[in-house]
Amino acid sequence: MNYFDKNALKLSHAHFRAHIKEGDTVIDATAGRGRDTLLLSTLVGDRGKVFAFDIQEEAISSTRTLLTAHGRKNVTLIHDSHHKLCSYVNEAAAVVFNFGFLPGGDHSVFSRPDTSIKAIDAALSILKEDGFVSLCIYYGGDTGFEEHDAILAHLQSLDPPKYTVMLQSFFNRKNCPPLFAIIEKNRVPAACLPLRSFRARP
Ligand SMILES: C[S@@+](CC[C@H](N)C(=O)[O-])C[C@H]1O[C@@H](n2cnc3c(N)ncnc32)[C@H](O)[C@@H]1O
Repeated sequence: MNYFDKNALKLSHAHFRAHIKEGDTVIDATAGRGRDTLLLSTLVGDRGKVFAFDIQEEAISSTRTLLTAHGRKNVTLIHDSHHKLCSYVNEAAAVVFNFGFLPGGDHSVFSRPDTSIKAIDAALSILKEDGFVSLCIYYGGDTGFEEHDAILAHLQSLDPPKYTVMLQSFFNRKNCPPLFAIIEKNRVPAACLPLRSFRARP
């Protein structure tokens, strides 16, 4: 695979295609225009379920229109904040976040660090063993850096025996290229794996 024609969103979709199975229950925590929801709905198939959250009615109705146009019937749309996802779903194989604002919508409404961190923790609390949380992290421009900084600090603080966090960056691209991160819930506690460790920087 080459990276030159990729971005955070394409990396996330490749990850979904590789890891989401037919029959899974998954969550789209930021429905937006419904493009991720549609892909998830197709991947889990008619035996699977998708729960899709958004705080904006415009996003919920956009997503509904897209799903209807594609005849998808396995999605429950929830007009509420993703930090309350445990009130709606008990267990999920994957939880997908695409932070930021609604494409083509109001740029002053975007995900915020406090609810984003609570939502990541809520997602981890209902994640199946071997499941994953995927995060596309947008920053700079209208959304600033506060959420980016808070999410990265939080990801770094997650307990290594319980979770593995992989962060991908288009490191030499200009103008705040979005980041892609995956949190895996470890099936085998990482403490049991032969991980190398080095002295910390003084
Ligand atoms: C970048 S868009 C998502 C794009 C979408 N996945 C798609 O495929 O079109 C981010 C969305 O997150 C939503 N959002 C922001 N804060 C939220 C929250 N606390 N709970 C749920 N959705 C939120 C915004 O309303 C916006 O629609």
